[in-house]
Amino acid sequence: MNKNDELLHKRSQAKLGGGQTRIDKQHQQGKLTARERIEILLDENSFQEIGALVSHRSRDFGLDKQHFPGDGVITGYGMIHGRIVYVFSQDFTVLGGSLSESHALKICKIMDMAMTNGAPVIGINDSGGARIQEGVVSLAGYADIFYRNTRASGVVPQISVVMGPCAGGAVYSPALTDFIFMVEDTSYMFVTGPNVVKTVTHEEVTSEDLGGARTHAEKSGVNHFTAPNDVACLKQVRELITFMPQNYAEKAPKITDFTFSDKKRELINSILPANSSLPYDIRKVVDCVIDDDTFREVQADFAKNIVVGFARLDGRTIGVVANQPASMAGVLDIDSSRKGARFVRFCDSFNIPLLVFEDVPGFLPGTDQEWRGIITHGAKLLYAFSEATVPRITVITRKAYGGAFDVMNSKNIGADLNFAWPTAEIAVMGAKGAAEIIFKREISEAIDPEAKWKEKEAEYAELFSNPYRAAERGFVDEVILPGETRERLIHGFNMLENKSEQLPRKKHGNIPL
Ligand code: HXC
Repeated sequence: MNKNDELLHKRSQAKLGGGQTRIDKQHQQGKLTARERIEILLDENSFQEIGALVSHRSRDFGLDKQHFPGDGVITGYGMIHGRIVYVFSQDFTVLGGSLSESHALKICKIMDMAMTNGAPVIGINDSGGARIQEGVVSLAGYADIFYRNTRASGVVPQISVVMGPCAGGAVYSPALTDFIFMVEDTSYMFVTGPNVVKTVTHEEVTSEDLGGARTHAEKSGVNHFTAPNDVACLKQVRELITFMPQNYAEKAPKITDFTFSDKKRELINSILPANSSLPYDIRKVVDCVIDDDTFREVQADFAKNIVVGFARLDGRTIGVVANQPASMAGVLDIDSSRKGARFVRFCDSFNIPLLVFEDVPGFLPGTDQEWRGIITHGAKLLYAFSEATVPRITVITRKAYGGAFDVMNSKNIGADLNFAWPTAEIAVMGAKGAAEIIFKREISEAIDPEAKWKEKEAEYAELFSNPYRAAERGFVDEVILPGETRERLIHGFNMLENKSEQLPRKKHGNIPL
């Protein structure tokens, strides 16, 4: 064999991973191989592999006789819509995609390159965890990755795509990244699997129920995006990345070929119900304001009382945070506060302006919320907004009551512009509750207490259930018609394009984790 043929032979060996039989098994399970996934994720023919011939160094348990070039992970870089990204894709056909010392070093190498060159990292996880034959060196390899995930946080966007098993401590790499994608029926994540759970807690649960895509999308909120299969999932990743800059020092690319259907200017007037205690879907309001069909909701199935996601406004990426009156009246609770806070932190890390739609009756009362720490968790959202230095605009569509008014990007916690619709109600609390407290004696002493209560409720509503008190004091910059919202927001974000704000000097703040 001449030297060139020798190289070609080695390459073809590396391409085969764990061999055709295991590739067939992967396909039978409805999963693509590690290389097929990279092909779909990246622009055609753009993948440049690094480390195809790296092998493990282990000699125990017969591993000295097993040689797999690449050692169970494909690493390198390529393009998504013409922009560089770094990629690793674990190959389950090689020793179950298990993580050896060399496997970890390959991942660390491309993470280091991503940091140095300022581009996102996308990790495709499909692995049985630490390579059991290697012992502590594979555990140390995981720690090397966790360390880099943390150091890269806020420097370059990091995306985890879970497309198979991800168990034990291995879950903490995805957890440290910005967004997690999962595939229905074929991917799962848990710290301890069903067998251990059965031994310890006597619960019988399947892998899917314990840590499948739906479970983490609906119950834990660990999973941000769910897809029906590998191809759909990778296409979602390609799309999400278009909303992001390459790194913390850049802005997301501005798109010029967008549309906005004029009928939405009219449609927006008829979304709110006449009765202010009835629900409506805030996503309809968002859709009527942003460029056509550009809203990409994040964690759509978790804490539905708050809606977060990326959108484009006049071609510019924005992060949308909106109370959702269609779910639990849009009340803020532990889960919605955590969800909102984490999204605000991502947007602020990567220079994505924030647009907030506010319709919130307050924080959710009750022992469950108090005992589980709504105080600390609610403070996360307050902290995240207060610390954000990106352009921030709030639109109050209806209720802005109590502490929730402050929390939802109020002027006093640093919002740049605050608009209110004529339907806005900005007060310490709803008129009914307020009347009951401040006119308690008058109501109880009245001949007809019910009528008195109604009279006082109307009095309070007349005074406070509107945006004008707040506008008089400048807490609201302008009261605007719903149909004027898009234009006001476009002008507002244009005006804020060069906003520059420095936080006070410190090592780092102490967010109420
Ligand atoms: C070495 C492994 C492996 C591992 C799987 N394989 N996991 N080899 N180390 N961790 C190998 C299998 O021996 C098998 O080799 C091949 O991969 C495919 O595995 P199967 O079991 O045949 O596949 P499947 O039935 O689909 O089951 C997948 C699985 C199971 C559920 C992931 O393999 C499994 O339970 N693996 C062990 C999981 C585990 O306990 N990992 C350690 C977790 S602790 P052959 O040659 O037969 O094809 C951990 C700590 C992280 O990860 C620490 C961070 C701090």
